[in-house]
Amino acid sequence: MTPLLITTLLLLTACRQDMHDQPRFKPLRQSDFYADLRSSRLQVQGTVARGQLHEDSYFYSGKLGNNPGDYMPFPVTEQVLARGQQHFNIYCAPCHSRLGDGNGMIPQRGFRHPSSYHDERLRKAPLGYFFDVMTNGFGAMSDYASQIPVRDRWCIVAYIRALQLSQGATMADVPAGQKVPSEPPVFGEPGSGATPTAIMPGEKQERQ
Ligand code: HEC
Repeated sequence: MTPLLITTLLLLTACRQDMHDQPRFKPLRQSDFYADLRSSRLQVQGTVARGQLHEDSYFYSGKLGNNPGDYMPFPVTEQVLARGQQHFNIYCAPCHSRLGDGNGMIPQRGFRHPSSYHDERLRKAPLGYFFDVMTNGFGAMSDYASQIPVRDRWCIVAYIRALQLSQGATMADVPAGQKVPSEPPVFGEPGSGATPTAIMPGEKQERQ
């Protein structure tokens, strides 16, 4: 039994070693085997790799033909806006600020100031424009295509539009019956900040 086991083990290791030693190219290494010196071959033209059939081209480009479109490729829900807000605050706010006025921490330290999203021009810009800037970059701003997945980029677009509405609201946007300015909040007695003493069972309330 044991010799058989040992032989089997030896055979297995040998086999594994063979696979290790076989000639192969490391990814992106140079090779003089091919005329273009690349060890990796380019995709044959017209090949569609799995997950790369971008049938809905608006979803992936934000463009209709050559021009940015002005609609969301999926319905905007509260979850979409929440996701957009979270991703905007992570990826965009360092430069564009949480308000979108372009006065984030990085421009405050010397990086080029972006335009405010609340400028007339950007307020009127179609939704696909914002998607395109994130996808391809814009001037000094690099693109975010590799960091932010397509759907999340659209969530950010929806959130930017919400930011713009929030800063450009008029009296007509106030729901009927709401006072402007709204009532100041009413505070109760200020507490000391200390944790209230726990009343043990059987103890008199007067310690409070
Ligand atoms: C490192 C700083 C930085 C970050 C992070 C950043 N941006 Fe920008 N963004 C800029 C700068 C700078 C410009 C202006 C570029 C120029 O004019 O050369 C700009 C321009 C833009 C514009 C175009 C405005 C116009 O004038 O037409 C949009 C839209 C925009 N950014 C959206 C975003 C979004 C969305 C994100 C997050 C995914 C983001 N940016 C992240 C720095 C940044």
